[in-house]
Amino acid sequence: MFTNEGIFEPFKEKVWLSSPTMHGEEMIYMQEAYETNWMSTVGKNINEAERMTAEKIGCRYAVALSCGTAALHLAARLAGEAIYGPAETGKGALQGKQVFCSDMTFDATVNPVVYEGGVPVFIDTERDTWNMDPIALEKAFEIYPDVKLIVIAHLYGTPGKIDEIRVIAKKHGALIIEDAAESFGASYKGVQTGNFGSFNCISFNGNKIITGSSGGMFLTDSLEAANKVRKWSTQSRENAAWYQHEELGYNYRMSNVIAGVVRGQLPYLEEHISQKKAIYERYRKGLKGLAVSMNPYDAENSEPNFWLSCLLINEDAMCRQVRGEQEALYISEKGKSCPTEILEVLAKHNAEGRPIWKPMHMQPIYRMNGFITRDGNGRGRTNAYIEGGCTDVGMDIFHRGLCLPSDNKMTAEQQDIIIELIKECFA
Ligand SMILES: Cc1ncc(COP(=O)(O)O)c(C=O)c1O
Repeated sequence: MFTNEGIFEPFKEKVWLSSPTMHGEEMIYMQEAYETNWMSTVGKNINEAERMTAEKIGCRYAVALSCGTAALHLAARLAGEAIYGPAETGKGALQGKQVFCSDMTFDATVNPVVYEGGVPVFIDTERDTWNMDPIALEKAFEIYPDVKLIVIAHLYGTPGKIDEIRVIAKKHGALIIEDAAESFGASYKGVQTGNFGSFNCISFNGNKIITGSSGGMFLTDSLEAANKVRKWSTQSRENAAWYQHEELGYNYRMSNVIAGVVRGQLPYLEEHISQKKAIYERYRKGLKGLAVSMNPYDAENSEPNFWLSCLLINEDAMCRQVRGEQEALYISEKGKSCPTEILEVLAKHNAEGRPIWKPMHMQPIYRMNGFITRDGNGRGRTNAYIEGGCTDVGMDIFHRGLCLPSDNKMTAEQQDIIIELIKECFA
């Protein structure tokens, strides 16, 4: 891997952030769907994938859908109707209602609230697990006492402060939607994520801990909710000989071919988690002594699925870095580095890292939405972290953090080289 001058050569095969890892059974189930001609949105693969997922999560019902976003959309509609009553056709169930949402997450957590006409209000992030801060959430209820819905995500597969959030939700009579898209297989106090809200979801997107190439599941303990999701996801067809519709529907059901991939992957969830955990531990040990830390978790109460390993650079080890809407610049400095520099070095060596998910309150599309930190209204204080005593935690983690190559096919040797490359950045 070294040239004669002692310089690393790029990896011949790209080392990915997180790519699909197939095992063979996927092909058998896909083939079975083909040979038996169950090439639509019904079939044995769907039934089995739903049964196996519900069993793994420990919830009563899992409904297989085209993607995690679809599951979150139907969860938002269900929650809206449960809280505010049935909506008029064409009007979202959350029309004009504020909804508290995780701030540091992928936008698919939040967009479904908007599909239903809701107005996301972003809740800042805590430093212990990089998820919704219960203290900021309590603050948000002081400012918006009428809010009745909370959408929480478990970033990078690390469970958030679930007990605290549930206590606050109960106190204010709010429902929870849990976005466990990234955290399938992770648990909190021995219970799998995907059980903590009224309506929950996981994703089988190609980059997730296990994949169907695409796909997702809606999870719930409510038979009524599961039945509604099944109906809505198949164009809301009524039980009639002809196409009869009383409600707005969607084409959101999972295909039996995709379900074959999911069915083949499910038995490998634990294996993937242990590979991801080993990657996290190897980074943690290998980067010891550098002015960095790994994405944190509550080791006493939770077991993440370690989907992505991330790095946070200590404030005093950051070289200067500025980011616009599309581009980033930095100035190299001896003994210091920044996410942009490390990502550039990794890319040069054919390894894929990624910036931390840019918080929702920093996204142009959501610039007019509320954002609540521990200190209250977080808008207008967006440079607080630069001035010291950061109150905008999400912005700070975005500024100093990055996602490391976390593919479970990465070899220990490749990972050691990545660790050396990171060390070089701080030399
Ligand atoms: C936190 C989070 N929520 C939701 C989704 C949406 O899942 P999907 O891509 O299956 O629609 C993703 C990933 O894609 C995600 O990372």
